[in-house]
Amino acid sequence: MRSVAEASNRQQGDHPSGDNRFELVDKHLKRGRYAQDQLIETLHVAQDVFGFLSEDILVYVARALRLPPSMVYGVATFYQLFTFDPPGDHSCTVCTGTACFVKGSDEIVQSVSSAFGVPAGTTAEDDSLTLKTARCLGSCSLAPVVVFDGEVLSHQTSESAVSLVGAALGGDA
Ligand code: FES
Repeated sequence: MRSVAEASNRQQGDHPSGDNRFELVDKHLKRGRYAQDQLIETLHVAQDVFGFLSEDILVYVARALRLPPSMVYGVATFYQLFTFDPPGDHSCTVCTGTACFVKGSDEIVQSVSSAFGVPAGTTAEDDSLTLKTARCLGSCSLAPVVVFDGEVLSHQTSESAVSLVGAALGGDA
């Protein structure tokens, strides 16, 4: 087990799992004091961050909230809002929570959507890109926040987001 000092020395984005997206889920869990009645909200956050709910993510949430994985799976499958399908080759999630919204995240969504012809909440026909929006990702001081291919990016603009996605897709949008 890691010591408190080790934990506090961790750099942001250096999650023990090796995937810094879990850091955003952890932040949410911590804010909710790991209360079991935070399950649905936590699944929302996890889906916003990862784009879908894999078995690994469900087990992670179950362990964190000390709930049986079967129960977490049952809750996740009950609600149609949750998806278990992986996103396209590249995944762009724009936070449209209040702090990000007031700093222009809506414009980022529109710009990425029109530049690449992918409506928000969908995956391109060729599976190259999934564009999603998310409610608050818990990092409001970094607003507007975009999670692109698992990387949490702060203070984004329409230009930076379009350029990033364009570079990843190999185009010149
Ligand atoms: S509103 Fe976007 S991170 Fe909080």
